[in-house]
Amino acid sequence: MADHRDGPLMRDKSKENVQCQITLAIVIGIVLGCVFAFLYPYELFTYYSPFQDQPFGKTNLKAGSSSCESSERIGVLKLEIASLSEKNAELNIKLKFLRKQLRLAEQGRDYAQKQVMALGENHKAGPFNTVKGLRTNPTVFPDESVNPRLAKILEEVAVHKEIIVAIANSKVQSMLEVWFTSIKKVGIPNHLVVALDDHIESICKSNGVPVYKRDPDEGIDSIGKTGDNHAVSGLKFRILREFLQLGYSVLVSDVDIVYLQNPFDYLYRDSDVESMSDGYNNKTAYGFDDVFDEPAMGWARYAHTMRIWAYNSGFFYIRPTLPSIELLDRVASRLSKDPDSWDQAVFNEELFYPSHPGYDGLHASKRTLDFYLFMNSKVLFKMVRKDARLKKLKPVIVHVNYHPDKLPRMNAIVDFYVNGKQDALEPFPVGSVWQKK
Ligand SMILES: *[C@@H]1O[C@H](CO)[C@@H](O)[C@H](O)[C@H]1NC(C)=O
Repeated sequence: MADHRDGPLMRDKSKENVQCQITLAIVIGIVLGCVFAFLYPYELFTYYSPFQDQPFGKTNLKAGSSSCESSERIGVLKLEIASLSEKNAELNIKLKFLRKQLRLAEQGRDYAQKQVMALGENHKAGPFNTVKGLRTNPTVFPDESVNPRLAKILEEVAVHKEIIVAIANSKVQSMLEVWFTSIKKVGIPNHLVVALDDHIESICKSNGVPVYKRDPDEGIDSIGKTGDNHAVSGLKFRILREFLQLGYSVLVSDVDIVYLQNPFDYLYRDSDVESMSDGYNNKTAYGFDDVFDEPAMGWARYAHTMRIWAYNSGFFYIRPTLPSIELLDRVASRLSKDPDSWDQAVFNEELFYPSHPGYDGLHASKRTLDFYLFMNSKVLFKMVRKDARLKKLKPVIVHVNYHPDKLPRMNAIVDFYVNGKQDALEPFPVGSVWQKK
């Protein structure tokens, strides 16, 4: 806990520092730019090579040639010109640097202005019930230098800067095969497997599945080959960061998911994070007032609490915005500090806990996906398969997150929804037998 309390404070200080430094650099840039504009008004706006004569040199040359024609004098003049050219070259370098500073300062100002404009020029609130806060944050400016190889792959595979991404090693091969077969069947072109080992890479290649294998010298990747689920989860958030930095929205997907429709047709794209829920009805998926009763308090025995079932960190859509990247960083950083923590719990805490003394909450906007369309296996096996009306509904995806016998249930889901086998879901129990590890 002490760790946790220190973290945000330190992060704040360094954030302030960076902001201070940027502001200072901008101010220095502008002041120097103004000084130069005043002292050398022509140089600031015209580019010239050191060998183009500047006004100063020209005058000297003319004066010299009219007063004395001796070769000695010409030699001196040549030296003078050479030295002036040199100075000029130096000045040019300085000038180039200052121009760059000025351009950066202007870019910074533009960005700030755009943000202010996005917030609305008119700061007066509108009439009752017409006012809306900002939930759609601006996307970050893409930075290809982060990973040029991945940038090239994404350029080819992504559609409208969006892509489904699953991270897989050989342990999940059979589920991955059901995963990409269902995706291909629906006809979703923009999906990518991040392969954590050579075997998965070759499986994908031989099946025509877009695949990206990270460079072996990437330090964080050694976890991927041997790691259990939780270690891979920590890695996931670090890998995803690069996708966002490159300017892509990512639909993060576990491999225990069957695709039945194209999820990109069902997103709202208005929030930083759009996630499927572990909830199984309106209340648990979308939030409710959970009343806590303490009779000893008498008149005030009922305390109202807000509850929502966890967001499923195995299937969510994340837009490339600053709050999104901050979320990934916060989760990855907490997972690395506490290897025993569960990534989904951390993901939810970072998303939902408000700021409080000693803690700065994340200000990310979020949306819960429709729990019938983005269906978890509790909804399917507890409710849908027993309800004639709900059985007719075709989900977008089904995530076998509530059951350990994932592969047979995935195959049954394909049989039921794709192959029309009406009784395919019947053999399975609602829940699984509790086994203590
Ligand atoms: C759940 O919410 C939806 C819309 O938000 C509504 O149409 C539906 O009737 C609700 N279901 C129940 C059981 O309350």
